[in-house]
Amino acid sequence: MAKVKTTFFCQNCGSQFSKWQGQCTACKAWNTIVEEVVQKPEKSDWKANNATTPTKRVSKPLKIGDIDTTEDIRFNTEDTEFNRVLGGGLVPGSLTLLGGEPGIGKSTLLLQIALKLPFKTLYVSGEESQKQIKMRAERINPKTNNCYILTETKTQNIFRQIEALEPDIVVVDSIQTLHSDYIESSSGSISQIKECTTELIKFAKETATPVILIGHITKDGHIAGPKILEHMVDTVLQFEGDRNHVFRILRAHKNRFGSTNELGIYEMQGSGLREVTNPSEILISKKDGELSGNAVAATLEGMRPLMIEVQALVSSAVYGTPQRSATGFNAKRLNMLLAVLEKRAGFRLGAKDVFLNITGGITVDDPAIDLAVVAAILSSNEDEALPSDYCFAAEVGLSGEVRPVQRVEQRILEAEKLGFSTIFVSKYNKISLKNTKITIQLISKVEDLVGILV
Ligand code: TYD
Ligand code: MG
Repeated sequence: MAKVKTTFFCQNCGSQFSKWQGQCTACKAWNTIVEEVVQKPEKSDWKANNATTPTKRVSKPLKIGDIDTTEDIRFNTEDTEFNRVLGGGLVPGSLTLLGGEPGIGKSTLLLQIALKLPFKTLYVSGEESQKQIKMRAERINPKTNNCYILTETKTQNIFRQIEALEPDIVVVDSIQTLHSDYIESSSGSISQIKECTTELIKFAKETATPVILIGHITKDGHIAGPKILEHMVDTVLQFEGDRNHVFRILRAHKNRFGSTNELGIYEMQGSGLREVTNPSEILISKKDGELSGNAVAATLEGMRPLMIEVQALVSSAVYGTPQRSATGFNAKRLNMLLAVLEKRAGFRLGAKDVFLNITGGITVDDPAIDLAVVAAILSSNEDEALPSDYCFAAEVGLSGEVRPVQRVEQRILEAEKLGFSTIFVSKYNKISLKNTKITIQLISKVEDLVGILV
């Protein structure tokens, strides 16, 4: 009997060691090294049962001007949000990894795209049965009949089916359920994930078929498996959102074929995910009359302007220590803004509870939301509603100065398009817009805002 070969892998970074040790010398993590059984026959190729190995092409250096790029046609996925995030569609021979929390809708998104595609698509699932997938497909309401479902986890069997079917696009749900015969450790282990991905990359590059993989994430939000998994693939997408809210955001963390600034927005409905093409209109709650504590921020998510509603509630603190809580906004930043208000605007917020909420379950990193947060807090503190057609786009500094933000003109135009009458921006922003219907209020200090609003 052949000797069982084992190797030690760091579960954090995927480094390989010949013996166990307490700390990974590569990423310095403790207790992450685990023994895995590996046994590799001579050849590990996606065409395992293909006896004739094709003669290897030796690549030659080419002048950059001579490289042909005309063949770089992309597969249009019929989903404008998905196309946008990918940078225009799926590139032939590319590997795309989609990560996200359990239940966020990864399988739903990819099944929906697979059903809409005009190409022959193979959806390989190692997680659900064909019946379950059919039931889900019926909810989504299929348009085409070009989608094949395979429930299989062994890569060699998958490749056998692929050779018979010759699909144009392959979707694999999920990389953690696959296992290859060439490695003996269990599915989901580092060595299996590495091996299966390598086989899929080889397949994708040799046949110019785009492959989309679903990846689980760990509790701290990283894609489960070695970090090198993210280096191996061409594109890493992240599907995120609050599971209790309907909005889902698709972001590119890495993209070899496009920018990572683009963003796709979906709404989870009873019949699958709906593309949200006009996010600003949905994120602003329709209300009768004006309510205190609400302010609208003109933010940018990636390249897209997004009008977001900020709600604040300021009330007298019942207990000794006032409470501060923020949903969708950095709590430290909220404390900083409160301190600025205390010092610069004379508000005694120390004896008040402050709650802040960004509507729609969205998390905002754009510093341009600061001024809207300040306005919402002031409005709630005074119990006076701001006019509902006011909006804000500026960062607030520690000394209470209102700082300029990037691409302010794009924000102003979006606000104008949505019918806002006034936008508050920093005096230091250079604006060369002419003939705008919207009033542009330039302010330089938080105190100015207090003067205007209260
Ligand atoms: P799923 O796509 O299985 O998530 P993941 O693959 O990321 O784990 O499921 C997403 C959730 O979406 C599930 O809890 C049910 C819900 N859902 C809808 O609300 N509408 C639908 O049409 C579908 C198919 C699912
Ligand atoms: Mg799933």
